[in-house]
Amino acid sequence: MAILKIARMGHPVLKRRAAEVEDPTAPAIGRLVAGMIETIEDIDGSGLAAPQVHVGLRVVVFRVLPGRGGREGVPLTVLVNPRIEFLSEETTLDFEGCLSVPGFVGAVPRFRQVRYTAHGLDGAEFSREADGFHARVVQHECDHLDGILFPQRMTDMRAFGYVDEVRRALSPTLAARAGAAD
Ligand code: NI
Repeated sequence: MAILKIARMGHPVLKRRAAEVEDPTAPAIGRLVAGMIETIEDIDGSGLAAPQVHVGLRVVVFRVLPGRGGREGVPLTVLVNPRIEFLSEETTLDFEGCLSVPGFVGAVPRFRQVRYTAHGLDGAEFSREADGFHARVVQHECDHLDGILFPQRMTDMRAFGYVDEVRRALSPTLAARAGAAD
């Protein structure tokens, strides 16, 4: 399986609502996920949604590397047909990047605490609660399935910019967090 080509902002596949997967156990879905995993590992990303590799299906892979947000991390997880419930109205603002918006970062409000439910490749449904960076990554990736990129979630476009410029302008603490590629 080769590294997959990433669709960039402006491509129609990133604007459409992705279709439900009828059979999460289908071999074609397994092959898609294998390619997405190889791609995310190659570019050292946190997450990837199928529309970002030009496939309009509701499939996400993500992981939280240890140390992100001072937590243990979340192992590589596959979400097929995911749904998100917001467990609190509280939002937090933090910087995000996106493989489909290369070179840019922006501060995006996200719900702090969520529960997500999805099918795995074995077809079984599972559910997890998440907060902090874990919750942020899942919201970012699931937005891709609805044709939404992170700049569309921003409430202050002054907090959008080239990653090196933003890093330079921020405090050292924030600079370390900026540029987290989702
Ligand atoms: Ni993204």
